[in-house]
Amino acid sequence: MTSDKRLISNQFPRASKYHPEWVIASVSGGANSLWMTEWLTTVMDLRPGMRVLDLGCGRAASSIFLHREFGVQVWATDLWFSASENIQRIRDAGVLDGVFPIHADARSLPFAAEFFDAIVCIDSFIYYGTDDLYLNYLAQFVKPGGLLGIAGAGLVQEIEGLLPEHLQKWWTQDLWCLHSAAWWRRHWERTGIVDIELADTMPDGWQVWLDWQRVVAPDNETEIKVLEADSGNYLGYVRLVGRRQGGAKLEEYCWPDTMRSFPPQYTKQPLLRT
Ligand SMILES: C[S@@+](CC[C@H](N)C(=O)[O-])C[C@H]1O[C@@H](n2cnc3c(N)ncnc32)[C@H](O)[C@@H]1O
Repeated sequence: MTSDKRLISNQFPRASKYHPEWVIASVSGGANSLWMTEWLTTVMDLRPGMRVLDLGCGRAASSIFLHREFGVQVWATDLWFSASENIQRIRDAGVLDGVFPIHADARSLPFAAEFFDAIVCIDSFIYYGTDDLYLNYLAQFVKPGGLLGIAGAGLVQEIEGLLPEHLQKWWTQDLWCLHSAAWWRRHWERTGIVDIELADTMPDGWQVWLDWQRVVAPDNETEIKVLEADSGNYLGYVRLVGRRQGGAKLEEYCWPDTMRSFPPQYTKQPLLRT
């Protein structure tokens, strides 16, 4: 047991077992992926042997965590990080038989329909999931009755009108994809593709964000100052869990990987009337 007390938190007892150096070395640019995964999985019923898609897994720390903590099989899928790097982390964690690294775009997934029992996205869904048509695509990969869950950075309340002044110094174009739990609920609920089990905001999530930031990037003064100035007014962590409705018909023609819905079907025909 290490005497290093960094990242130990009563709020996240499972994540607190993992070595801080391992967690920090697995950073993929966002929140503490173990904290987010632990928070999300307290409201997702994961059972040993289930097949889980960890979509946008980054360096796959969440995938290793999911397998170790719940005994699920995990397809650790990501676009910006290398599957060949991830397999080394997976091998060193001793979970090669239960975590499978895949390099793929969330808009063109190489999986069979209804293959997964559950899909989780940790601090990643914001990059593709705000598209109104995306849930209609992703839902095909989970069995009817299966769970889809997302958790990560978001807003406590939507920004109406101009960007608040205290956020301006830090704000970049990518941050427009941050939304509130209520926004995400509506985004999914109105489709009827899933029944919403839960959509909420982490109490004092900004403090958790700040705690993480102070450990992982203490020199990032801009973000730290913005979090302090905001004090949970806008910035925080959100999560959303939906269960796929068996009865909802998915609309295949508008899926982003159109090759799936329109396979090549060339039939030679005469060009001209004779
Ligand atoms: C902020 S990082 C979070 C990574 C990891 N889940 C974590 O919590 O550490 C966002 C992740 O989303 C992934 N991502 C963004 N767009 C994607 C896409 N179109 N398909 C698959 N993954 C995507 C990136 O590859 C990146 O790893």
